[in-house]
Amino acid sequence: MTNVRTSGSVAADCVPASFDGLGLHPDDLPHGLVVADDSGRVTCFNAAAARITAVRPGEALGRPLESALPLEDLDGRRWWALTDPYGGLATRIGQPERNLLLPGGRQVLVSARYIRPRPGGPVVRLVIQLRGTEARRRTERSHAELIATVAHELRSPLTSVKGFTATLLAKWERFTDDQKRLMLETVDADADRVTRLIAELLDISRIDSGRLELRRQPVDMAAAVRRNVEARTRAGQPADRFEIKVADSLPPLWADPDKIDQVLGNLLENAVRHGEGRVTIEVSPALIKARTEGTAVTVSDEGPGIPEESMGRVFTRFWRGSKRGGTGLGLYIVKGIVEAHGGTITVGRAVKGGAQFRFTLPVGAPAFLSQG
Ligand SMILES: Nc1ncnc2c1ncn2[C@@H]1O[C@H](COP(=O)(O)OP(=O)(O)OP(=O)(O)O)[C@@H](O)[C@H]1O
Ligand SMILES: [Mg+2]
Repeated sequence: MTNVRTSGSVAADCVPASFDGLGLHPDDLPHGLVVADDSGRVTCFNAAAARITAVRPGEALGRPLESALPLEDLDGRRWWALTDPYGGLATRIGQPERNLLLPGGRQVLVSARYIRPRPGGPVVRLVIQLRGTEARRRTERSHAELIATVAHELRSPLTSVKGFTATLLAKWERFTDDQKRLMLETVDADADRVTRLIAELLDISRIDSGRLELRRQPVDMAAAVRRNVEARTRAGQPADRFEIKVADSLPPLWADPDKIDQVLGNLLENAVRHGEGRVTIEVSPALIKARTEGTAVTVSDEGPGIPEESMGRVFTRFWRGSKRGGTGLGLYIVKGIVEAHGGTITVGRAVKGGAQFRFTLPVGAPAFLSQG
C-alpha cells in the first residue's frame, strides 16, 4: 500500500506501474484525474479533481461514476447516461473536451478516454480528465479587453475624420482656404494613424500566432543604425541629438533587414518622443550564451526614464506611461521581432538617468553556412 498518500485521494490500484516507475503520483498532475474500473466504479480521484469538483476523494472512491461525478450538459441532460461509455458504440475511444456542469452550477471541462485492451472490446477502464474553467475564462476576458481597446483606438481618429469631412461637405463655402487645408491635414494625419494602427495589429496577430516570417540575410547593423538616424535628422531632428558608437569588430549577423529597421525605428522614435537630450546608440559584440556570439544594440536617452515599478510592463500590449504615448504597441512588437530572431531585449536605466533599451541578436546564419 505504499502508493496511497495520506490525502486518501488515490486507491492503491490507481497507480499503474509506469506512473510509479516515473516516480509520479496522480496527485502530481496539474489537471483533475478520475479513473473508473470496468464496472464504472471510481478507483482514482486525484487532488486536482477534488479541488475542481469540491468533492472529497473519500466520498468518490468506490462509488459509481454517476453518483460520484453527477455531470450534466448545458441542457441539463445526465452526461453518463447520455454518453453510455460502457454500453455505447464499441468503436468509440473517448469523448472530446466539453464544458459540463456539476450540481450547483459549477463548470468543468471534461474529456474522457475509453480503454479497450483490444479494438471493439469492452471498456476495462475509463480515464477522465477534468479542468477548471478559470484559465479559459481568463483568455476570453483578455480577448474581450483587446477588442474593446482596439475599437476605442480606431474610433477616436475615425470620429475626427468623419467630423471634419462632414463639416467640410456641409459648409464648404464658409471656410477660408487655410481653414480647409488645416482640416484636411488633420483628416490626413488621422487616416495615417488608422492605417498604422491596423499594420501594428496585423504584426501583433502574426507575433501572437507565431506566424511572423523572417527573411534572413546578412545585415550590417552599424549601417542600419546610421540609416535610421539619418531618417530622423531628415525628418527635422537636429543631427547632434544622436550619437552612434560602433565597436571595431562585429560578428556576422543574419536577420530580416526590414524587421531590424522596424525595431530600430521604434526604439529611436521612443527615445526622441518619450526621452530627452542626447540619444546614444551603441553597437557591440555580445555573448548570448556561453560561447554563442551575437550583436548587441543599446539605445539610451537622457530623459525621465521609465520608473522602476513600470519596467515589467513596458513590453506589454497597450501599456503607455505618459500622455505623450501613442498606442502602446511599439515595444510589444519590438520584443516580438527580437524574440522571433532568437534574441532578447531588456530595459534599464541609462548612465545619465534616462531609459536604456538593449537588445541582442544571435548570428542566425543558415545551417548550411555554420556547418562548413
Ligand atoms: N525612451 C523612453 N523614455 C521614457 N519612457 C519611454 C521610453 N520608451 C518607452 N517609454 C514608455 O513606454 C510606453 C510604451 O512604449 P511603446 O513604444 O510600446 O508605446 P508608445 O510609444 O506609447 O506607442 P506606439 O509606439 O505604439 O506608437 C510609452 O508610452 C512610454 O511611456
Ligand atoms: Mg513607441
